[in-house]
Amino acid sequence: MSRFDFIQVADPQFGFRDRMARIGPQGIASLRAGEFLGPVEPLVERPDPEEDGLAREGRHLGAALAEASRRSAKFVVVCGDMVNSILEPRELKALRGATSALSAHIPIYFVPGNHDTAVDYTAARPTADGLAWYREAFGEHYYSFRVDDTFFLALNSELLMDSSLVPEEGARHFRFIEDALSSHEARTAAQRIVFMHRPLFSGSAARDHLQVVGQPRRQEITQLFRERGVRTVMAGHLHRNVESNDGDIEVIATAGAGYAFGGLPGFRSVAIDGETLSHTFHPIAVDPGSTD
Ligand SMILES: [Fe+2]
Ligand SMILES: [Fe+2]
Repeated sequence: MSRFDFIQVADPQFGFRDRMARIGPQGIASLRAGEFLGPVEPLVERPDPEEDGLAREGRHLGAALAEASRRSAKFVVVCGDMVNSILEPRELKALRGATSALSAHIPIYFVPGNHDTAVDYTAARPTADGLAWYREAFGEHYYSFRVDDTFFLALNSELLMDSSLVPEEGARHFRFIEDALSSHEARTAAQRIVFMHRPLFSGSAARDHLQVVGQPRRQEITQLFRERGVRTVMAGHLHRNVESNDGDIEVIATAGAGYAFGGLPGFRSVAIDGETLSHTFHPIAVDPGSTD
């Protein structure tokens, strides 16, 4: 049985801190309407409009990558919303600048989020242009890989939300999930772990939440995962830490690395030991680049 660590990052979302520094009452109302914030929950942090948000986001991601090097992690996975807007090349450039600091022998995997697959990221509906942008920037938007005896499946949760603008992509993606989990590589693994941007569910598979995969897809995928022995789904998107269980399936949503709604931003270290998985959230308590 093998033992190794990896680092999970969600929502480094370069450009979001600058957006949040300028958010007005309407923006906050739409966060409440979308269930990112509770009905009366205040924002924990209001970024300073004078601060260079992209540089700060770079330092936050840098802290996660430094931890990956310190632990000799097998890989880093970024679970979506790498940038705030695909129309802002400087955001992708800032992300690339930050990831260039990662040791060359540690691979970094990217998973698509709603902000990375459509210009209108609030619509939860990926577009052909958005997916083309994604492929150009990051490569394939769903894939699998295996490290020792652990099988990993990276999915495009946006296609599970709504593939009406790219129906063939949606159908191909769903077939891929079934095939990948039926493969010899998956069946012979000690455990199967899924990475996606949106949590598959929040609370339980039966509970509705505007930001998780909708029904009937949610029940269908949960059932498929259960049948094929997926026990862990790691996600982001909510910008806060939420751990949910439904039977033997655990969904771990990790707070935003750049900016968080319900507490501090941060990232997660994950330790694999044969058939077991343990994980720890690492909050970024102060600006890791500040000198005061
Ligand atoms: Fe996000
Ligand atoms: Fe998102």
